[in-house]
Amino acid sequence: MFYKETGQRTGRMVLFLHGFPFDHTLWLETARHLGDSRRLIFPDLRGFGQTTLPVPEVSTMSQFAQDTADLMDRLDKTSRIVVCGLSMGGYVAMHFAQRFGDRLAGLILCDTKAQSDTDAAAQNRMRRAAALPETGLDALADAMLPNLFAPQTGNDIRDTVRQMILRQPLGGVAAADRGMAERPDATDWLPGFSMPTLVICGEQDTISPVGEMKQMAAKIPNARFLSIANAGHLPPVEAAGSFALAVKNFLGEIF
Ligand code: MLT
Repeated sequence: MFYKETGQRTGRMVLFLHGFPFDHTLWLETARHLGDSRRLIFPDLRGFGQTTLPVPEVSTMSQFAQDTADLMDRLDKTSRIVVCGLSMGGYVAMHFAQRFGDRLAGLILCDTKAQSDTDAAAQNRMRRAAALPETGLDALADAMLPNLFAPQTGNDIRDTVRQMILRQPLGGVAAADRGMAERPDATDWLPGFSMPTLVICGEQDTISPVGEMKQMAAKIPNARFLSIANAGHLPPVEAAGSFALAVKNFLGEIF
């Protein structure tokens, strides 16, 4: 599993899980803003970026969570860590918290949701995954990009994200789409998450809107909700400074 490591070489790890269909470069600005303050780990999930683990037909959120736990074991078996996941990375982070909660000092859930897909949404994903070898990543980027950003987000950022999508391996993208289609509903898990949790949402996110994320935060006993101005679904790239500051403050409180 490929990962980029920045910041301190020792100390408690903070592990960042990217969304769909992205890779660890989603967090480049987060790494830059957080600097040397912590030990920061940015993996590419199975089937994305530079990770070369075999890609199954369906990459389940549970498989991604297991891969994340395996990576953590390789890097530091003993300390409790913080996992921060955005959107699909948030689905994975919730699976991680459900299965390996005792290994978490804290949890950050960004622009994500606990509910599973509706039947219609799941069927759309399965169709999209099946068609991907013919339609290609350009078509996927065209379909996704209009919904990802706040209206004021600049073209440079939109183009960087488009290029990130175009770099991803087709098979990995299709497998993750199928995995999201069959992910279980995590709503009933939320009251069991006892670790300090920060729930972050871009103020103009239309995919995981503020109202829904507030409701999600209210179900987690030790959670705080924060919205980020001038951002849609991708605060780490659209409002990198305020996103990183929110993460930094939370880490300062729990470590
Ligand atoms: C993401 O950004 O990871 C996607 O919006 C997740 C999804 O398709 O549900």
